[in-house]
Amino acid sequence: MKVGILGAGQLARMLIQSGQNLGLQFTTFAPERSPCVDGLAEQQVAQFQDKEKLQSFFDAHDRITYDWENLSVTTLREIRECEKKLFPSLSVLEIIANRYRQKKFLNSLGIPTAPHALITEESGLIDAVQTLGLPGILKTNQLGYDGKGQKRLKDLGECQTAWAELGRSELEYESWVPFKRELSLIACRSVRGEEKFYPLAENHHVQGVLSETIAPAPVTESMQKFAESYAQKIFQAVDYVGVLVLELFETSDALLVNEMASRVHNSGHWTIEGAETSQFENHLRAGLGFELGGSQALGYTAMRNIIGNWQGTEHIQEVFPDILVHDYLKESRPGRKLGHLTLQGKTHEQLIQNLQTLRSFLAANGPKETV
Ligand SMILES: Nc1ncnc2c1ncn2[C@@H]1O[C@H](COP(=O)(O)OP(=O)(O)O)[C@@H](O)[C@H]1O
Ligand SMILES: [Mg+2]
Repeated sequence: MKVGILGAGQLARMLIQSGQNLGLQFTTFAPERSPCVDGLAEQQVAQFQDKEKLQSFFDAHDRITYDWENLSVTTLREIRECEKKLFPSLSVLEIIANRYRQKKFLNSLGIPTAPHALITEESGLIDAVQTLGLPGILKTNQLGYDGKGQKRLKDLGECQTAWAELGRSELEYESWVPFKRELSLIACRSVRGEEKFYPLAENHHVQGVLSETIAPAPVTESMQKFAESYAQKIFQAVDYVGVLVLELFETSDALLVNEMASRVHNSGHWTIEGAETSQFENHLRAGLGFELGGSQALGYTAMRNIIGNWQGTEHIQEVFPDILVHDYLKESRPGRKLGHLTLQGKTHEQLIQNLQTLRSFLAANGPKETV
């Protein structure tokens, strides 16, 4: 079976690696050649708005998925057989690609989010800040990722500069959520309607970028079920196919959805070694109509991102032989996700101990800007 991936980053890399056991053939489609998929897939280099190239890409593959949400929905809408071949579907992508629309969709299903407002002009921002209060966070409505296109607001006087800094484009203002923990749920639904849920994972962000994931997170059975019920509502509402990720805020009395992603996700990388079947393999299984693999955790697993300017990835295993290194083969650059490390423990306590040792090592020897 021939599978096309729109995007050619590390998520595409790991999708391809997991799909090789399934006997699949892959091509990626992206505006530039990517070292992440070099030698693993054929690469088509073209703009996402190039309708003709996109159409032949769709024609040449049985199924198409994506590793990046910022695609051109307008162009995809004009592609023959897009609805038949693309997973998760174009209608899901349209909802996801716009923060405000995404929150409206979630709220319409009774799923709670942070209080929020759409901002289209500076005076609207002042109104929203007055209504929703401070502190808050201002986000570009589209094209944001890894904390980019965001500004935290503590004072009404900051509105003018924030509005200018974020490009005077359509924005979303959200109340600051005093969360206890950030969690994420990796869920998956197949073309056949089969559903799987991974155990909730705990995420640690630094400056809006994911740094670590620990899984399974110590949570009650009822919290797990509660999160799954959110995903089930979404599955039913849009006849969902593929991996769906919910980023969650746990507060003292609620579980809010921060955002959703219709693709495999950084907070699910732990599933490669830490679960019966990885998020990558299950995403492909889901879209291709295969039976889904198990989603149970195997012991306790942590994932630590390697971000920024660093040449140490190749040598870390000399210091920590039990750590698994995933090098995305990208050129080192400030702020860039270069790879991730996976470490495991037989118990949660042992895992945290191993993680502490790694944190101390990276604090002294890791990428300087790390997160
Ligand atoms: N309303 C909020 N309240 C508190 N923290 C927030 C809020 N929105 C975002 N954050 C923090 O910033 C991180 C990145 O924001 P997010 O909306 O997930 O953007 P991105 O699309 O860049 O991942 C979150 O994981 C969280 O740590
Ligand atoms: Mg996020």
